[in-house]
Amino acid sequence: MKTLLVTGSSGLIGSEVCAHFGTELGYTVHGLDNNQRAAFFGAQGDNRWNQRRLERDIPGFVHHELDIRERERVVALVAELRPDAIVHTAAQPSHDLAAKIPFDDFDTNAAGTLNLLEAARRGCPESPFVHMSTNKVYGDAPNRIALTELATRWDYADPAYARGIPETFSIDQSKHSLFGASKVAADVMVQEYGRYFGMPTCCLRGGCLTGPNHSGVELHGFLSYLVKCNVEARKYTVFGYGGKQVRDNIHSLDVARFIAEFVAAPRAGEVYNLGGGKGNACSILEAFALAERHTGKPQVHAYVDAPRAGDHICYYSDLGKMRAHYPRWDITRSLDAIVGEIAAAALGRHADGMRA
Ligand SMILES: NC(=O)c1ccc[n+]([C@@H]2O[C@H](COP(=O)([O-])OP(=O)(O)OC[C@H]3O[C@@H](n4cnc5c(N)ncnc54)[C@H](O)[C@@H]3O)[C@@H](O)[C@H]2O)c1
Repeated sequence: MKTLLVTGSSGLIGSEVCAHFGTELGYTVHGLDNNQRAAFFGAQGDNRWNQRRLERDIPGFVHHELDIRERERVVALVAELRPDAIVHTAAQPSHDLAAKIPFDDFDTNAAGTLNLLEAARRGCPESPFVHMSTNKVYGDAPNRIALTELATRWDYADPAYARGIPETFSIDQSKHSLFGASKVAADVMVQEYGRYFGMPTCCLRGGCLTGPNHSGVELHGFLSYLVKCNVEARKYTVFGYGGKQVRDNIHSLDVARFIAEFVAAPRAGEVYNLGGGKGNACSILEAFALAERHTGKPQVHAYVDAPRAGDHICYYSDLGKMRAHYPRWDITRSLDAIVGEIAAAALGRHADGMRA
């Protein structure tokens, strides 16, 4: 039986990967997480419920309570397990929070990734290593693309980007936020272990990754947090750009399905822009309308006329390279289906909370 090591296993992407490989693909799954999300975001970000869900639902799942910053323990764990693949999703994921905790951010995102890469090189250099990177590695450079303002969203006016942002887009000389910069360090290091050491590594530069198992908070988890606010009649604050800023959204299951394709036929030092693409893109205003349709509740919101530092005005991923390299993969969950699923889960949790 094959073995998979997933870091950040209690998080949105980590837990989906654990479930997909553990229940659909027959792997023995080892999860590594220390519930750091609760340390980063407080009780709202607490992921223990998700860890318990994995321990309950995935046969043979083993949880390792470990911090990826603990270099020796990480190296020892990988040496002991010698997993057939490593999926690295543990991170400090918020660019707003990074400015408040720069050492924690860099130590987790950059040094933590190096710990895992070096552990893999020593313990299982042949095993595919998938790293969750982010579209924030492009900094705010996408904001320099000529845009057109439509009734409810911004869109690219330049036909060169009609299919979205490709992997060849520059990651240099733009404002990234400290989070974006620590993720650039990790992204380039993951590529280097592929190019320099020939290891089967890849970086997945995520757009908005989402799904019902996200512990969404204001600083991270766009759709999940927006729908949660809608359900609980809590005020959602829009920061700048008229609420017309566009994000592309991908269901965590489609992320896990792509990772499975890469693990089955790995390449070295690859980079993919992994988002929902143009088909699953929406503005915040459009997301309000979608959420309202699925919950039947009005979205309570406020507007602050100042965008978040480094925020994208319009971003959607060009999925062309992913589809070309892995033609069996495509998006299976539409934006409408994603919002419907998140809304159903949020309504259920809200009703449970009201009963408790
Ligand atoms: N969710 C998104 O919209 C999005 C978008 C682009 C990129 N990404 C990237 O995808 C990855 C996964 O994101 P997510 O949404 O699943 O995040 P998440 O916060 O839901 O999950 C991350 C998990 O990592 C754990 N973790 C954090 N620091 C740790 C440490 N030092 N040691 C051990 N565990 C630690 C957390 O407790 C959490 O369970 C991250 O690298 C993130 O930057 C996410």
